[in-house]
Amino acid sequence: MIFVTRKICIGNKCFMKRLPHNFYLKEKSMSTNLILGIETSCDDTGCAIINVKGELISETLHSQHLMHLRNGGIIPDVAQDLHRSYIKPIVLNTLEKANLTVEDISAIAVTLRPGLPLSLAVGMKFAKQLARRYKKPIIPIHHMEAHALVARMHYNIDFPFLVLLISGGHCLLAVVQDVNKFKLLGESIDCAPGEVFDKVARRMKLRNVPEYSKISGGQAVELAASKATNPHMFKLPLPLAEYKDCNFSFNGLKTAVLRHLHRKENEHEIVADKIIPEVNDLCAAMLSAASRHLVHRTQRAMAFCQDNGLIPPDNQNLVVSGGVACNNFIFNALSILCNESNYKLYRPASKLCTDNGIMIAWNGLEKYRKNIDLTTDYDSLDIEATSPLGESLIHDVMTAKIPMKLMKLKL
Ligand code: KG4
Ligand code: ZN
Repeated sequence: MIFVTRKICIGNKCFMKRLPHNFYLKEKSMSTNLILGIETSCDDTGCAIINVKGELISETLHSQHLMHLRNGGIIPDVAQDLHRSYIKPIVLNTLEKANLTVEDISAIAVTLRPGLPLSLAVGMKFAKQLARRYKKPIIPIHHMEAHALVARMHYNIDFPFLVLLISGGHCLLAVVQDVNKFKLLGESIDCAPGEVFDKVARRMKLRNVPEYSKISGGQAVELAASKATNPHMFKLPLPLAEYKDCNFSFNGLKTAVLRHLHRKENEHEIVADKIIPEVNDLCAAMLSAASRHLVHRTQRAMAFCQDNGLIPPDNQNLVVSGGVACNNFIFNALSILCNESNYKLYRPASKLCTDNGIMIAWNGLEKYRKNIDLTTDYDSLDIEATSPLGESLIHDVMTAKIPMKLMKLKL
């Protein structure tokens, strides 16, 4: 049992008392509205409870990462089976840890879009069952909106702000004008950076190195790159350099890295599970090229916001979130841009950047406070595999063709 020391006052007499942790949580959650958040959009089963002040009461996360690593990627059926097995224990555990029951909950926030349909369906079905049984409203959540807003849980970031969302499934730049008002400036025209890191790491056989065997491809690439001795050995193309917009592309980068890998494997006559000796340098080159691309597109998004009055010049904030935002190399490159552009850069804690239930509960709370999207018309709710983020200004960005001196990054 975990104990916390609390100051208890009776009349004008105060003393310190050791109390069980869940007593403290119960006290923290009493006389306040509570939001339960459920996340099952991809390969993490997450649940969290947040009180109306935005304090985290309890949280549980089950990651399917190791299973999918063994399978060489996410198999939707397998992900669904695991969500089905874990959803109930995860939600019950979250309630139990906080000494709460579903009766105590004010609303259930659940990710309904975008994501893997089979995975999303598990969260939706469970949320609907709970909501029907206990007569609670549901708050439908857009996964990317949740990634974008979660930084506001711990930082005072006013609307509007610029957000760069980089994950295994997405790459986009948007202006967040309110809890439910987003303007999309750019997105990936092919794949997401996390997806490329995962695929390249797999092809490089990084998981055969014990140190990398249990971490994500992106984390492995970052760690390998930090050990590079000749980070400039490989030359990689800068994606979309000739397009004056804010879209992203990572396919060409992936192909170029795989070509270098293949060449080096032939050169060293690499067989079976062996890894090329230059693997760290190749990871460093890939990370550097991806960082430059992200920084240049963000630089143009900042210029577009300035030209169109989308971000107030005296309060310029950039939030970077999503799993790939955990990457310190990318974060440092963005810090350089923000320093030069008079932007403040924010990034949620690592466990809030990757998929989790807390961001869903937080987004639920932000909607609950403003009475946005709460419903008891459960039949009206459904999942959506794809769902654009907000209103698209991508065409406007393209036609603006903002010329700019792209920042030189000494990475
Ligand atoms: O946000 P997230 O948990 O799931 C999606 O919504 O996609 O992001 C997972 C992605 C994976 O592709 C993983 O390789 C990547 O985030 N990732 C990283 C790092 N940590 C996780 N990529 C680069 N550097 C990292 N340190
Ligand atoms: Zn995500």
